[in-house]
Amino acid sequence: MSSRLDAARPETAPAVTTRFRPAIHFAARDTWLNDPNGLVFHNGLYHLFFQNNPYGSVWGNMSWGHATSRDLLHWTEHPVAIACDETEDIFSGSVVVDHGNTSGFGTADEPALVAIYTSAFKAPSEHGGTQAQSLAYSTDGGMTWRKYTANPVLTRNSANFRDPKVFRYEGGQGAFWVMVAVEAQQQKVVLYRSDDLKSWDFLSDFGPANADSGEWECPDLFPLPVDGDPDTVKWVLIVNINPGAVAGGSGGQYFVGQFNGARFVPDAGSLAAPAGLSSIADAGARSAALQQCLWLDWGRDCYASVSFSEVPDGRRIIIGWMNNWDYANELPTAPWRSSMTLARELSLSTAGRTAVAGSAPLLQQPVLIQQPVLAGPPAEAMGTFELRDSELRDSAVRLPDAVPGSAHIIEAEIRPGNAGRVDFLLHGSSDGREGTVLSYHPGSATLTLDRRHSGDTGFHTKFASAESAPLVLEDGILKLLVVVDHCSVEVFAQGGRVVLTDLIFPEAGSRENRLSAEGGTATILKLAVSTRS
Ligand code: FRU
Repeated sequence: MSSRLDAARPETAPAVTTRFRPAIHFAARDTWLNDPNGLVFHNGLYHLFFQNNPYGSVWGNMSWGHATSRDLLHWTEHPVAIACDETEDIFSGSVVVDHGNTSGFGTADEPALVAIYTSAFKAPSEHGGTQAQSLAYSTDGGMTWRKYTANPVLTRNSANFRDPKVFRYEGGQGAFWVMVAVEAQQQKVVLYRSDDLKSWDFLSDFGPANADSGEWECPDLFPLPVDGDPDTVKWVLIVNINPGAVAGGSGGQYFVGQFNGARFVPDAGSLAAPAGLSSIADAGARSAALQQCLWLDWGRDCYASVSFSEVPDGRRIIIGWMNNWDYANELPTAPWRSSMTLARELSLSTAGRTAVAGSAPLLQQPVLIQQPVLAGPPAEAMGTFELRDSELRDSAVRLPDAVPGSAHIIEAEIRPGNAGRVDFLLHGSSDGREGTVLSYHPGSATLTLDRRHSGDTGFHTKFASAESAPLVLEDGILKLLVVVDHCSVEVFAQGGRVVLTDLIFPEAGSRENRLSAEGGTATILKLAVSTRS
């Protein structure tokens, strides 16, 4: 963790950057944020707690900031919920609604919200240098919090035991709380159980497996029906990793398998490297296996994704931190720095793996489908553009320009036909020198998001990049939903089977958007652009 502080710029009064402030993504008003924490739906409100430096624009003084929303698009920031002090920083964790008042913090009629967070203990504490799990609780619906006086409730005397995600398990083995956390440097997820959230018993551990060349952080574990069938349920284990993700630096991988109340067992089909990629000696085989791991996102900027508790109707919704530790402290915005991804609703589908890998034994392996939650006020009529059944041959269609104050949403169904590539230019300059390019290459069946000429890329040597995901089309049709906000591009391809998220920092005048095809004829079956603010 200290390397992050070392990397952080000393703070002099920063110039205020409003140009890049997102229209429909959460950013703190004037401070730093990282991981989403304590995501919970309660009394009609989505609560987003988050890793926050209440005193600055770089990582440090970690506390839980707080925001709420009714639609997951528009957020209201509240005062800091759980603050660091001289003995501890408040690292990532989760919130549960203690309906049965198992903790005694609330009453049977008025259940408390209980936060389970990592205490990153500082030298003055008797636990100095360790990370252990602690509780705080709220009896006013999440607005104010009190730390439990007998913290920490679970320690392993480890310096890297963190990021507890707690959920209520009800199944064959009874009903109890389960905690999934990490031993970050051992690439292990550790599982515990409790009846009262205060006293915890070890259940099992999982890992290393698949991507394991960085620290494992921010795990999550939840059930989902396969192909919508409530009788066929699988469990998804999300494991974020930094560095060592598929696009470099921070990213999220997941495993699909079974959880019996004690142990998570991955399906063979979700294991590209059962003993971890580090066990593969040959570099070529290792990088091929990295591509075969299951990735939440193939872009550079989706990390620490975890899910909400208590969303009605069994919906499973995640939010990630739209950033990468490779350059997070250097983003060219101030005094706010960093934002969250859109909320994404998850489902599991067996029809998905072909689009990712195309390898026969893996075809029945369910994969995650992600759809952005965009229900909000209706799309602005003025910004709406539609085109159907139109051919493109070495030509371009000009789409509506980006509008300051709004995000724009592009929905497209395109048959690449015999075109060599199909390109969307996003936030392009009129002289054609600047722009972010999203391309599909039918020859290599890859979708690439290229931000090398996206605007300001010079603030960090690792920022300029192009990310690719394997993408096999069904029926020869490329289906895209692209959400472009002032400093981000989120691409949901083939109904959300493949997702790519990248930050961009375009020049103020770079607002042009275009679609073009090269080297053959592509057919636009459907193209619609709308705005949201
Ligand atoms: C992930 C992470 C967590 C930790 C938090 C500290 O980005 O490193 O493991 O709890 O950030 O801010």
